[in-house]
Amino acid sequence: MFAPAKVDALAARTLHYPHSILLKPMPYLFHPSGGLLYHLRAWRWRRTLWAQFHAEVRAWLSAWRPKSPHLVLIGPSGGYALCAEFLARFTRISVLEPDPLARWLLRRRFPSAPLHWEVGGTLARTGGFDRLAAAYPDAALLFCNLLGQELQGQAADFNRGAWLAELEQALRGRSWASWHDLVSTARAPTGRPPSCSGHAIALEELLGHYWLGGRLEFLDHETASLCPAAPRRHTIWHLAPRRYHLIEWLCTP
Ligand SMILES: C[S@@+](CC[C@H](N)C(=O)[O-])C[C@H]1O[C@@H](n2cnc3c(N)ncnc32)[C@H](O)[C@@H]1O
Repeated sequence: MFAPAKVDALAARTLHYPHSILLKPMPYLFHPSGGLLYHLRAWRWRRTLWAQFHAEVRAWLSAWRPKSPHLVLIGPSGGYALCAEFLARFTRISVLEPDPLARWLLRRRFPSAPLHWEVGGTLARTGGFDRLAAAYPDAALLFCNLLGQELQGQAADFNRGAWLAELEQALRGRSWASWHDLVSTARAPTGRPPSCSGHAIALEELLGHYWLGGRLEFLDHETASLCPAAPRRHTIWHLAPRRYHLIEWLCTP
């Protein structure tokens, strides 16, 4: 059995990104959960390290069949994991994405998609999911690897666990889906676990399927308790040569 060791909570990760404080006039370009570095990585690894993960996300999206013709994309960045066939299913796509470069890239990548830029504002605050559901009463909601990220607009004392605990109730009866980070680590996974499960698995047990034996240091993205009774899928995103993310996919019809 391996020995898990959380190196840090995601909430403390801003300490490693002093440039986001130094470059306040351009906060989106240097934001730790996206920004310029993210776009450069996407360009660098899109055909190699990221390709398999993106193929899996596209397969998840292809199987997700919300009835609404209106989709809200939350945090899609440049849409690197999205594809034109998926977007073509919707007649209106509202986009909540604070990074202006990401918006420009998304439009460039999908010139014929019916994209409408909108302002998320207070999603990262208490009651954020209720406000989102109320703002888009008829739409399907897609969280594009957002729930485990440092968010624009989150308060200094942001409590991700409390924030996420509101999601299931706020979106009950709605079509929504999310892929999100569970943990990230520098250690390459070696296990070949089943990719789906009928409900949440305790994080330590799940990690034990992917990282066999030894010591595992990881960043906890604090998303592991989401919708515990719902079926889910998991995969690995090889983000950079020495960076691996364990990703979870959740969806309602
Ligand atoms: C890890 S990136 C998403 C990756 C992207 N979905 C992909 O497939 O490559 C997280 C994104 O969330 C956006 N974001 C951060 N805070 C946000 C908020 N409050 N509302 C909407 N999007 C936000 C960031 O600008 C960034 O583009």
